[in-house]
Amino acid sequence: MNEEIFARLCANKKYGDVHPDAVRRALEDAERRYRKPKEIEKATRERLHGVVSAFNELGKVSPSGGLESLLERHASTRERLPLIRMDALYARIFAVTGEPRSVLDLACGLNPLYLLRRCACPVTGVDVSRSCVELLSREPNFTGVWTDLLSDGAVPAGRFHVALLFKILPLLERQQPGSASRIMEEIDAEYLVISFPTRTLGGRNVNMERNYADWMEAHLPAARRVEAQFVDENELFYILREVPGASKPKEK
Ligand SMILES: C[S@@+](CC[C@H](N)C(=O)[O-])C[C@H]1O[C@@H](n2cnc3c(N)ncnc32)[C@H](O)[C@@H]1O
Repeated sequence: MNEEIFARLCANKKYGDVHPDAVRRALEDAERRYRKPKEIEKATRERLHGVVSAFNELGKVSPSGGLESLLERHASTRERLPLIRMDALYARIFAVTGEPRSVLDLACGLNPLYLLRRCACPVTGVDVSRSCVELLSREPNFTGVWTDLLSDGAVPAGRFHVALLFKILPLLERQQPGSASRIMEEIDAEYLVISFPTRTLGGRNVNMERNYADWMEAHLPAARRVEAQFVDENELFYILREVPGASKPKEK
């Protein structure tokens, strides 16, 4: 791996926000596709932009203000605002799972900010963006993990009541084919709540709902069944529950 490019990207204001494991992975992928250092660096920057910068605007503003103005700093939570809509969305989810006793939020963005105010339980959040994890880590009842979910052992161990995978499986699958199924299997939780975008960031509808629904049906983890499925505005949700008595993928 080109250490010079790696060091430059890690020191960069924008890309230094990304966990170094993800920078290394993006760089090694680019090195397999291109030969000239300039092309390698350009391809790596483009990849990293797609990983975090397209969503996260924390670097542009002071991370203060009310809940709603903080949630606006991340494209995914911004799309679920106003708060009254988020309340309705989570009421729908928790009507199926019950009030959560613990939540694991994978590739969380700023979503735990809402959860911590809505729920009285501990929340663990994982994201590849340091600024997201740092901002959240100021909150009581929150455990933040800054890591690349595609690294070995990145999924936190331990039992959770509800695990969220909002708008992340297609991104992971793009970064590493096969990783979405592996990560779903590694999570030890009674419920998996999974969401998919039904519109692109630019707002274009490209039949995404049908494609992601087909993908989900084809990739249901072995010991889970679909407990609920619904569309909320621009997001398709699946709530998967463990099948009682089915053998778990891994014993702890
Ligand atoms: C589309 S956003 C979804 C955010 C949040 N789940 C939500 O829906 O509000 C994708 C998030 O995944 C994070 N992410 C992307 N690739 C990741 C990876 N390999 N490991 C961990 N987090 C990742 C990004 O930093 C970003 O916050």
